[in-house]
Amino acid sequence: MRTQVAIIGAGPAGLLLGQLLHREGIDAVILERRSADYVLGRIRAGVLESGTVDLIARAGCDQRLRQEGLPHDGVNLCFGGARHRIDLAGLTGGKQVTVYGQTEVTRDLMEARSAGGARTVYEAAGVHLEGFGGSRPVVHFLKGGIAQTLECDFIAGCDGFHGVCRQSVPERAIETFERVYPFGWLGLLADVPPVNEELIYVNHEDGFALCSMRSMTRSRYYLQCPADEKVEHWSDQRFWEALRARLDPEAAAALTTGPALEKSVARLRSFVAEPLRFGRLFLAGDAAHIVPPTGAKGLNLAASDIRYLSEALVEYFNGGSTAGLDAYSTKALARIWKAERFSWWMTSMLHRFPEVGRFGHKIQLAELEYLVSSEAASASLAENYVGLPY
Ligand code: FAD
Ligand code: PHB
Repeated sequence: MRTQVAIIGAGPAGLLLGQLLHREGIDAVILERRSADYVLGRIRAGVLESGTVDLIARAGCDQRLRQEGLPHDGVNLCFGGARHRIDLAGLTGGKQVTVYGQTEVTRDLMEARSAGGARTVYEAAGVHLEGFGGSRPVVHFLKGGIAQTLECDFIAGCDGFHGVCRQSVPERAIETFERVYPFGWLGLLADVPPVNEELIYVNHEDGFALCSMRSMTRSRYYLQCPADEKVEHWSDQRFWEALRARLDPEAAAALTTGPALEKSVARLRSFVAEPLRFGRLFLAGDAAHIVPPTGAKGLNLAASDIRYLSEALVEYFNGGSTAGLDAYSTKALARIWKAERFSWWMTSMLHRFPEVGRFGHKIQLAELEYLVSSEAASASLAENYVGLPY
């Protein structure tokens, strides 16, 4: 097989890149280790920046998102038992975020890809990269036990944190920066109406909590838990009781409970790899960086990488210039580090850190009080939450 761009990974980054290239007449093949159903079964992010929505529109996949996505003008912080609203739109000249699940984004992109006749190989095993330091990269893989090769001009490493692309780079060529947090998030999805029409981020003595949603009939809730927590230790009832205890009285009274459709634990980590380009291999999305989910930035950052990378590839194939490809790493990393900072800051302010003790907790409360009482501080949160400019 031969293609212009070999994309490794059919998560949001790989699918979005594939679609944006397809619309510009550039051929790409996606190799994905899992099955399409497995990819669609993963419950992950839920909040899209307007820049992400615009990019999905550019890919021609925003029809259902426009109909079913929920625009949000504000977000709430709850601490000391009281809830405070941050007026995102009012503080940012009218910008909003849209609640629309990553699963739905993935489904829309997958459907557009198969309708357009673009090639995706699911259950591609043993992906192995070769020759990206030279001019003729090749990707080797197994499909149904049969060895195959894919020749290409460029490889896009969109294969997530545990993927093969970043690991294929010689250690001396890459630098990594990491912080692992001493806790995780226990998430629960249920077909119950959301407790509030906007998201609520909670700092509570028992730990962080988040009330989010997927629609007006489906809710997504999270609780801070130990990093090695076992999901089996959490009956639905235990989850709902722990959540209710962390909410303000009004929200606690309004909470509707129901059977969990899904429950899972995610560990929290900050991670960045530098640079993002190694000859003809480019890293994008979780393959290059991870943020703790507290700032709702993971998926959005994957999208902004893809915007830069897709524009650079179009400029190369359709305009004959390497300027965009040469600038990709520096340009993307500048935005990545700002989202890393915001996600780290939100995480630090809202979670219970065993090592900081009572002093640390008082400092968190002072920071939150300042945040909700100062327009300058609220505006800073708001402009980061809705998404910094590309
Ligand atoms: P991924 O979605 O990870 O996609 C990578 C794809 O590559 C996968 O389909 C994988 O199967 C495939 N792959 C991996 N290795 C190979 C290989 N060797 N060969 C071929 N294919 C391969 N963000 C938020 O903002 N809010 C959240 O609540 C949130 N929750 C999360 C929960 C979990 C458990 C995880 C892991 C992430 C979460 N995120 C969240 C982050 C967000 O989902 C990611 O930032 C986003 O999925 C990044 O997209 P991606 O396409 O870069 O990577
Ligand atoms: C979610 O809905 O899954 C979600 C929302 C906001 C976050 C993280 C996760 O910050």
